[in-house]
Amino acid sequence: MCGIVGVVGKPARDIILNGLTNLEYRGYDSAGIYLNDLNGNEYLTKAVGRISNLKEKLTPDEQGLVGIGHTRWATHGKPTVDNAHPHFDETKRFYLVHNGVIENYAELKEKYLQGVKFHSNTDTEVVVQLISKIAREKNLDGFSAFKEALKLVKGSYAFLLVDDTEPEHVFIAKNKSPMMLGLGDGFNIIASDAISVLDQTKTFVDLQDGDVGDITKDSYTIETVDGKKVERKPHVLDIDPNAASKGTYEFYMLKEIDEQPSVMRKISQTYFDENDDVKVDPKIIDSISKADRIYIYAAGTSYHAGLVGKTMLEHYTGIPTEVGLASEAGYHFPMMSKNPFFIFLTQSGETADSRVVLKEVNKRNIPSLTITNVEGSTLSREADYTMLLEAGPEIAVASTKAYTAQIAVQAVLAKALGEALNKAEAKDWNLKHDLAIAAEGMQQLVDSKESLKEIADKYLIKSRNAFYIGRGIDYAVALEGALKLKEVSYIQTEGFAAAELKHGTISLIEKDTPVIALINDPATADLTRGNIQEVVSRGANVVTIAGKDFAREGDNVVLPEINYYMSALLTVVPAQLLAYYASKDKGLDVDKPRNLAKSVTVE
Ligand code: G6P
Repeated sequence: MCGIVGVVGKPARDIILNGLTNLEYRGYDSAGIYLNDLNGNEYLTKAVGRISNLKEKLTPDEQGLVGIGHTRWATHGKPTVDNAHPHFDETKRFYLVHNGVIENYAELKEKYLQGVKFHSNTDTEVVVQLISKIAREKNLDGFSAFKEALKLVKGSYAFLLVDDTEPEHVFIAKNKSPMMLGLGDGFNIIASDAISVLDQTKTFVDLQDGDVGDITKDSYTIETVDGKKVERKPHVLDIDPNAASKGTYEFYMLKEIDEQPSVMRKISQTYFDENDDVKVDPKIIDSISKADRIYIYAAGTSYHAGLVGKTMLEHYTGIPTEVGLASEAGYHFPMMSKNPFFIFLTQSGETADSRVVLKEVNKRNIPSLTITNVEGSTLSREADYTMLLEAGPEIAVASTKAYTAQIAVQAVLAKALGEALNKAEAKDWNLKHDLAIAAEGMQQLVDSKESLKEIADKYLIKSRNAFYIGRGIDYAVALEGALKLKEVSYIQTEGFAAAELKHGTISLIEKDTPVIALINDPATADLTRGNIQEVVSRGANVVTIAGKDFAREGDNVVLPEINYYMSALLTVVPAQLLAYYASKDKGLDVDKPRNLAKSVTVE
């Protein structure tokens, strides 16, 4: 959500445009760039829509050795050119890009900026005008004025600021929104995410909340807003830049769906030792073993993965487990058991809603674990422990391989914890074998993707609405299947507990309404068949996705056999493919659905 890239000391334009393109997955609706050639020329260009629109507007002579760029996901003010970043002050001395939300912008405007002429409706412009006002009134240099302004600003931000009286510097500040500093030879880069600039450097400095910095081409100083120096050491990031490239695929989403078998194998390699024993940091297991209740918190797809994790954790460890939406818990904290343990599931490790809960958890000294795909991400740093998903970069906004990786890593945790607690179910569980079965099954499913395309074309693309139904773990997958389909195809889809449909929502079933039924739960498979008949009688077009043991003639997809607790790993694959083809065959931008952001860094 919003992407920022800044460059000092190297022709900046293409690095910024490429970096912003690599950040497109975060979601945005306008883009802009400020360039300064350090020869007295500066250029500001902004465009609504895609980065390609911005590129078209830039003339060849608009170049710079210093530059800041931004993709904006509108919060305050519509996506227009005026509201796009960079923003500037009345005197056009300062240029600012911002990722985050300024909570007290109205108050700042009212108190300090009466009579100032604004050109946008954004919260960000208030900050750049404030910096300028402070610099003029107190006769301060740009960096000092920036720090003074930051003392007044409340909210989340990653800021990049250029003062055109000293254009060889980019000033930065971070609070709650992600930002990394990339170090080069004779140049430095600042970006929301390392992936965006991996072609330029692999050496990064992780910035922390409260950091303010002065970046030039060959130096960086980080300090607090009060001017106290802080040391932030660089580290080399071991990511293959190709892992984030689309290769021969038309869309990342399909590439990422196809990668799931290898992600399962990677998780197996990471979390099992050479004796096939499960391998999880003993400190994590020791800490959770003392818990009388596990609380899983997450958002979106990660929340759905948590619902599957709960069933595994309860079955294999015997510890009662609750799953909640982070956005709901932040300000209505759940009632705690005596010895709670919190698990945060988050692909990005940056979701603001989850972070609010983690802050409260830390305040109460409750132990916590973040399960994430991004090493060094905010939620990883702020929790006591981290387990990595090992899924490789996920670029498509709709999460696929991170979801299955979250389920697999929770399985690893359930196995290790259950063994430590001496649970027979866990000791007897050959999880390594099950992960191999999952990888094989996923491979079979992705290899027969054409049949899902046919179903999507026949039943989905012309529909305005659709339903997913299932019971037990299938209900959790129904929620995820529905989210996947609606987010990328814009077909309004609801996930339902199969039996619950008849308690009201069945009134929406009419001729040709697509209902996708998931059938893997041994306890309820026959009952779900009954629920299918109820919708068939009302004219629904039913698509059945059934486990091998429960399959009947005429089922549309028969899933390879697998342990029930792992079944979500297979059931979700056809659901992901249906969503992919429904979106693609409707001619939509599969990887970047409208209005969505991959990493949601505002509450
Ligand atoms: C956004 C994304 C979803 C994701 C959710 C939680 O809304 O579009 O795909 O599931 O954030 O993200 P996280 O990074 O915490 O898993």
